[in-house]
Amino acid sequence: MKAIVRHKYGSSDVLALEDVDVPPLEDDRALVRVHAASVNALDWHLLRGLPYLVRMSEGLRRPKRSSMGVDLSGRVEAVGKNVTQFRPGDAVFGARDGAFAEYVAAKEEKLVLKPANVSFEQAAAVPVAGCTALQALRDKGQVQPGQKVLINGAAGGVGTFAVQLAKAFGADVTATTSPRNVDLVQSIGADRVIDYTREDFTKGGQRFDLILDIGGKRSLFACRRALTRTGTYVIVGGPSGRWIRPMDRAL
Ligand SMILES: NC(=O)c1ccc[n+]([C@@H]2O[C@H](COP(=O)([O-])OP(=O)(O)OC[C@H]3O[C@@H](n4cnc5c(N)ncnc54)[C@H](OP(=O)(O)O)[C@@H]3O)[C@@H](O)[C@H]2O)c1
Repeated sequence: MKAIVRHKYGSSDVLALEDVDVPPLEDDRALVRVHAASVNALDWHLLRGLPYLVRMSEGLRRPKRSSMGVDLSGRVEAVGKNVTQFRPGDAVFGARDGAFAEYVAAKEEKLVLKPANVSFEQAAAVPVAGCTALQALRDKGQVQPGQKVLINGAAGGVGTFAVQLAKAFGADVTATTSPRNVDLVQSIGADRVIDYTREDFTKGGQRFDLILDIGGKRSLFACRRALTRTGTYVIVGGPSGRWIRPMDRAL
């Protein structure tokens, strides 16, 4: 099969289209013919091997795996004998290393059925960024209806899911963005939009029950000022650096 691979860390120039083996169908896996795959921040970090912290697991001098891509949608081609949730022909989406290829073999817990009213392209854009936003809001942030929630960095991959999910959970949503994305963020449901180039949310006197920090440029102490006394601060990301950023804030 054809796959997008890389044999060293670098920019998109190191990517190549090569012939590789179709992954073996193990008993607990479904073989999926990939229809669409999406690119997100994770692929960008893994491609460059940056921050260097990434190389602790991915390979110090060169990547251990040549395959690229995680988010995908497609059709089940065959299933291993222990797979119970899917049958050949099912349209699915999910996350599996090596998504930039004609086929992936994924454990069934890594896939779900694709709703018929969602295209393969739309479904492939959801898994990592959508699940990150869901985990951050629901599992870590324990968002409740009526709470005041700030999504800092609302116009990107995680942020656009976070705004829509926070609204679906019944929150009152304030979103930060640069001027070029104000209309976008309003169109997906934000109740208030702060242009971060003109206004610092940590200095406006507003207090939030939950801050989801995706942009991450304000200090933790400044963000604390923008929380209610029992408010929750959830770190998703922030500006990238060579060594550990954006993981530094979480550490
Ligand atoms: N994508 C994922 O699935 C995922 C999963 C886990 C963690 N993360 C981490 O989360 C972070 C964002 O990822 P992403 O995929 O959402 O990236 P993205 O699509 O590039 O979006 C980044 C967002 O940050 C905003 N931003 C830039 N400077 C800002 C500032 N000073 N204040 C507030 N917002 C600012 C940008 O707004 P404008 O475009 O309006 O300038 C943009 O909306 C990264 O650190 C990434 O490593 C991402």
